Amino acid sequence: MHRFTRSAALAAVATLGLAGAALAQDAVPPAEQPVDPYAQSNANAHATPLTDTRVFDAFHGKDGLTRIAADMVDRSLADPRIKEIFATTDLPRLKRTLAEQFCYVLGGGCDYTGRDMKSVHKDMGVTNRDFNAMVENLQWAMEKEGVPFFAQNKLLAKLAPMQRGVVER
Ligand code: HEM
Repeated sequence: MHRFTRSAALAAVATLGLAGAALAQDAVPPAEQPVDPYAQSNANAHATPLTDTRVFDAFHGKDGLTRIAADMVDRSLADPRIKEIFATTDLPRLKRTLAEQFCYVLGGGCDYTGRDMKSVHKDMGVTNRDFNAMVENLQWAMEKEGVPFFAQNKLLAKLAPMQRGVVER
């Protein structure tokens, strides 16, 4: 009886060990299938879209958001606090993907074709101060477009949780 119990216990440990190894292997993606950071996924936009389209309308739809994204980027390029961070950036792509992201999160029915927030800002060394400078430029851009405060605040509330993925130090 004693013998049986011991070998059963050993068998159980061996089985668990094998199962553990199989689980650990499953957690690592196979090397021959690299994750494509450019694969389209609205999950990369890092927010659930608004369902009330009044906010999207207050931004003057996709055209308004395209103007705001472009103006925010242009202001950031002229901003001595953060302009150097954009030295090697593909600017037309940044303006386009930002407008798509804003449109998606405001429930405008756009698809976001950019990369996910964490990997795109990885190793950029963005600080909270940089983040606030960028948000200030966005506020100026929304002001210029004549977006009412209630709508400005809705977009800012959607972007605020992204700070953790963008800021690294
Ligand atoms: C909530 C705030 C932010 C949002 C929603 C945002 C969004 C984006 C998007 C959509 C892209 C393009 C993705 C792609 O090309 O696939 C991007 C790229 C970039 N962002 Fe941000 N961003 C934010 C904050 C910042 C801040 C604070 C900085 C620096 C001051 C910054 C610097 C950059 C740069 C330099 C790129 C280009 C990366 C590259 O060329 O590979 N971002 N961001």
